[in-house]
Amino acid sequence: ISPSPTPTCNDVEKSLNDLPKARFWEAMDICKWEGYWFEPGLVKPAITFRSTFQARNDDVLLASTMKTGTTWLKSLSFCIIQNRQNHKHDDILTTENPHFHVPTIESMIYSTKPTKIDIYDASSPRLLHTHLPYSVLPDPLKESQCKIVYIARNPKDTVVSIWHFFNSILRPNQDPFPLEKAVDCFCSGVHQYGPFFEHVTEYWLESQKRPEKILFLKYEEMKKDPKGEVSKIAEFLGRPFGDGEVDEILWRCSLDRLKNLEVNKNGSILYNVPNICFFRKGEVGDWKNYLTPEMEERINQTSRSKLEAFGLFL
Ligand code: A3P
Repeated sequence: ISPSPTPTCNDVEKSLNDLPKARFWEAMDICKWEGYWFEPGLVKPAITFRSTFQARNDDVLLASTMKTGTTWLKSLSFCIIQNRQNHKHDDILTTENPHFHVPTIESMIYSTKPTKIDIYDASSPRLLHTHLPYSVLPDPLKESQCKIVYIARNPKDTVVSIWHFFNSILRPNQDPFPLEKAVDCFCSGVHQYGPFFEHVTEYWLESQKRPEKILFLKYEEMKKDPKGEVSKIAEFLGRPFGDGEVDEILWRCSLDRLKNLEVNKNGSILYNVPNICFFRKGEVGDWKNYLTPEMEERINQTSRSKLEAFGLFL
């Protein structure tokens, strides 16, 4: 399946310079491209991905916005597709972080720095991830038979998780960014890969139109019925479980286990992001420990106005 025509370097540079800009948490610049906010260094890789990616029908693309359960979904899908052996010593999640096994396309593959990951020569089936919104995915990928698995999470736990994450990597020796301001950025959509609500809605609507192409998961449902939801993923990907397999995979991918592996306690797969920052509490409703009634109401209102009309409740 062929990609769409490649824009010239000049087109790309010009469009990058002209993009609207904002400051995220007084700590980093972000810019708006195709209706969403990104770190500037990710826009060019996203454009290259969109214009050059050659889809294979057996590709599997995981998708999510930030802090909605990506690491868990990567671990589970990797075990379902590529690391299915039952023997403990074959479990390569013990040697590398899940983000190594399932690279995020725009930040780890098409990034401007040289990369060791070559997806063109990778053997099939390729298992990839993106935080990009559905609308900017390459047409060949949308038109191919490849499957997409999207994970969403309730906005209040998402914003609290974002707040913890960026405070730990962007402001490690500073006072935490005020939560009220973080909620404000989240509700106005001015944050990495925001607006959250539009991101979720795009994948939701597409999953309703093409359920055989896109599986839409919710973090809360995965926590409530992990066996049922993980079996659903395995079936959707055409790899249903045999006896006892689901328990083994859930154990391998559990937060407590991953968090305590040496590679995650002390390693770092992404520049400036210790692996341990990907693992925190993983609790549904943790927002109650942080948000004031005013912040809660602000998010509820935004959520109602953006999602309810589409029959989507998070
Ligand atoms: P909390 O900050 O609420 O604890 P992402 O992987 O998209 O960055 O999302 C991060 C959130 O997923 C964090 O939530 C993190 O603790 C949780 N998480 C990470 N690994 C997990 C796992 N194996 N099982 C369940 N939740 C996990």
